[in-house]
Amino acid sequence: MENANVLRDDLLRAIGDADTLDTLESLRVAALGKKGSITALMKSLGGMDPEARRQAGQALNVIKDEVAEALDARKTVLARAALDTRLEAERLDMTLPVRPESRGAIHPVSQTWEEVVAIFAQMGFDVAEGPDVEDDFHNFTALNFPPGHPAREMHDTFFLPEREDGTRHLLRTHTSPVQIRTMKARKPPLRILIPGRTYRCDSDMTHTPMFHQFEGLVIDKATHFGHLKGCLQEFVEAYFEVDAIPMRFRPSFFPFTEPSAEVDIGCSRKDGTLKIGAGDSWLEILGCGMVHPNVLRSAGYDPEEVQGFAFGMGLERIAMLKYGIPDLRTFFESDLRWLRHYGFSALDVPTVQGGLSR
Ligand code: PHE
Repeated sequence: MENANVLRDDLLRAIGDADTLDTLESLRVAALGKKGSITALMKSLGGMDPEARRQAGQALNVIKDEVAEALDARKTVLARAALDTRLEAERLDMTLPVRPESRGAIHPVSQTWEEVVAIFAQMGFDVAEGPDVEDDFHNFTALNFPPGHPAREMHDTFFLPEREDGTRHLLRTHTSPVQIRTMKARKPPLRILIPGRTYRCDSDMTHTPMFHQFEGLVIDKATHFGHLKGCLQEFVEAYFEVDAIPMRFRPSFFPFTEPSAEVDIGCSRKDGTLKIGAGDSWLEILGCGMVHPNVLRSAGYDPEEVQGFAFGMGLERIAMLKYGIPDLRTFFESDLRWLRHYGFSALDVPTVQGGLSR
């Protein structure tokens, strides 16, 4: 067993010298692994006579335990050292100043969208949406625009190239086509709010080629003009966060409503500042009316059975009025300074109870 003792001394020295966990693992494999040196000695016991095998076996077992113990002990030491090095290297310096952090802001379009949806949700409206690219039927014909009627021209429509079948799609000029799509897809009663993008070929202080509208549609057996007035009164007071706003309905024309009206709210304009609520001035904010029987028919509803009202308004327009933003075009210029000035905190989610805007 002379060479076994030499082997043990060599192994113990190498284990003591191992300075990484990897080296230690290779040493373990080289000694105790399947093809390891101690394992080989164990195997050689088979060829000895019984007495010699007993003695050599005992001695070898002692050596094997010693080596295993030394491996364990060294492993503990190396693991602790490795942890210490990591702790040292990964130490956080709590005294460092924090990096400057740039805060995002919610765009007034998104803010106004959320505010209006929250108000109408409170009144039992659900949100309906439709495609931006429409066909002539949904944007005009089904909404009672006769072919060649001048009201079509007033919409400054963007047309897409003619298709093979001769039809031309278009960018919807208002959210009203979603009235038709929703009525066709659902059965009355309906109480829906349709927010969305709309397009008209027009650009100045108060017009951009793309803008947003909100459309409301209520259809039931006996929904009448009084409901329309009450609903809009409630909306303008909630939205502008002012009580008892004077309101007036001026007769107007839309092909898809009869009678039709434009709605003004009371305001004052003193020293160039607009104040919504009391005052001797009026401000136009939306169009509305009772849904035309032809519109109900083109959506497959029977005007003898159901009736209702619709209204539509420009999202940016009511945002400009509430938040004092003078130029519509700035909404879409993506100027960060503008957004920092007019934007809203991401953490202030508008709710009717908690407050719409802060
Ligand atoms: N669609 C109309 C427009 O864009 C607005 C409107 C909607 C008017 C619903 C009445 C009823 O001008």
